[in-house]
Amino acid sequence: MAHEGDDGVVRVLFVCLGNICRSPMAEGVLAKMVADQGMSDRVVVDSAGTGHWHIGKRPDPRAIAAAAKHGVELPSRARQIDPAKDYGSPEDGGWDYIIALDEDHVRHIKRQGGPMERVKLLRSFDPKANGSLEVADPYYGDDAGFDRCYEEVEAGCEGLMGTIVDD
Ligand code: 4NP
Repeated sequence: MAHEGDDGVVRVLFVCLGNICRSPMAEGVLAKMVADQGMSDRVVVDSAGTGHWHIGKRPDPRAIAAAAKHGVELPSRARQIDPAKDYGSPEDGGWDYIIALDEDHVRHIKRQGGPMERVKLLRSFDPKANGSLEVADPYYGDDAGFDRCYEEVEAGCEGLMGTIVDD
């Protein structure tokens, strides 16, 4: 499997702005794919936000509802990315993959001196994605935006899962 450290575990962190919509969805989707393949002891999945506004909160009810339509639970609580911990090297138990949902998050991580060789956009793993590789922020939109967000997240996670398993 890809990049796993000495313990054979692959670690994946998803990053968005508030950590209540897009990245908790990605966390829930990938965690289900991992569980369905019987790999829960070999892949660790988490998510974090670049912002601090929603620390400790459960995901947005619209994100929970969109994921529930696909049998995906979103058990996370929002937290803010912690450079001291989240940018540590995989040899020290750091993340093998830091997966951003849009370009703002990539820029944020770069400004903080994050490990850019491990930072990728989620939709870059979706071979069908054309045009923008961003998952648009659904927060100020309608329920349909959350369904669209789910579809993009799922397609990206399918590609990411293949990369994790095959590399
Ligand atoms: P997320 O969505 O980054 O996908 O969790 C947002 C959640 C909250 C806000 C913006 C985006 N907000 O401005 O509070």
